[in-house]
Amino acid sequence: MPVQLDNHLLEEILAQVRPLIGQGQVADYIPALAEVQADKLGIAVCTVDGDLFTAGDAQERFSIQSISKVLSLVLAMGRYEEAEIWQRVGKEPSGQPFNSLVQLELEQGKPRNPFINAGALVVCDMLQTRLSAPRQRMLEVVRQLADQPDLAYDARIAKSEFEHSARNAAIAWLMKSFGNFDNDVITVLQNYFHYCALKMSCAELAKTFLFLANQGQTLQHDEPLITPQQTRQINALMVTSGMYDGAGEFAYRVGMPGKSGVGGGIIAIVPHEMSIAVWCPELDASGNSLAGTAALEILAKRIGRSIF
Ligand code: DON
Repeated sequence: MPVQLDNHLLEEILAQVRPLIGQGQVADYIPALAEVQADKLGIAVCTVDGDLFTAGDAQERFSIQSISKVLSLVLAMGRYEEAEIWQRVGKEPSGQPFNSLVQLELEQGKPRNPFINAGALVVCDMLQTRLSAPRQRMLEVVRQLADQPDLAYDARIAKSEFEHSARNAAIAWLMKSFGNFDNDVITVLQNYFHYCALKMSCAELAKTFLFLANQGQTLQHDEPLITPQQTRQINALMVTSGMYDGAGEFAYRVGMPGKSGVGGGIIAIVPHEMSIAVWCPELDASGNSLAGTAALEILAKRIGRSIF
């Protein structure tokens, strides 16, 4: 029998998953990311009625990393025709690590989907073409959606990413060699790293991504951010490609569209009802928050929700 959603339920769920801390691994391939305290644990749920429920470290900001790939796609959808986007990036799961180069070479520089690094870099390249200040624009959007005018990039993390950017630079240059990258590689990489280095809390993430549960409609604007159809499309891509190579496992256990980041954050969507954000920095073998996934699995069961 599904139970009522409230702060107490969220606290109970965090208590249940806290013993899992110690079983995963904090991302350390970017030195500044490895500095995070491994026992952080937070959850926030925002409903389409505007109610916000939180527990644990839900107000503490962390590096959202690849969760930002959803936001860059949203920005691109507002500036390009549908066909223009999908002729440059695919919609299929990759079955490869998020920073793989192998498939890109075999598939003539067209990334499998917008949520692997190659795909997000193409999207950032497209934003660079159509926006005069892509970094500033992203900040304006998240500040409005989260109702937090002080949201900012973590300059140290962005710098650390740039200092360890060989693989992403290789991906961008490989795409350029196939004619699928128009702008200066360094400029686009810098934007991409800043998007990854955006710092947000679970509460801010849940509020920001509510539009994906609400047919594209935000709580703050009269006009929707994206259309209901675009909302369905993004949720579909999150189901198939939002959780790296663990999308099948996540669909099986949690049953919601989700997008994770190597900072240990995950957003998940219950269409027409709520957006959920969890954070726990230790990752599983697929690169998804270990305790965060477990918390979502329990929450889905307790409130009786799944898209399947
Ligand atoms: O490009 C990187 O190395 C990371 N900043 C990517 C972030 C992430 O969460 C994994 N991505 N798909």
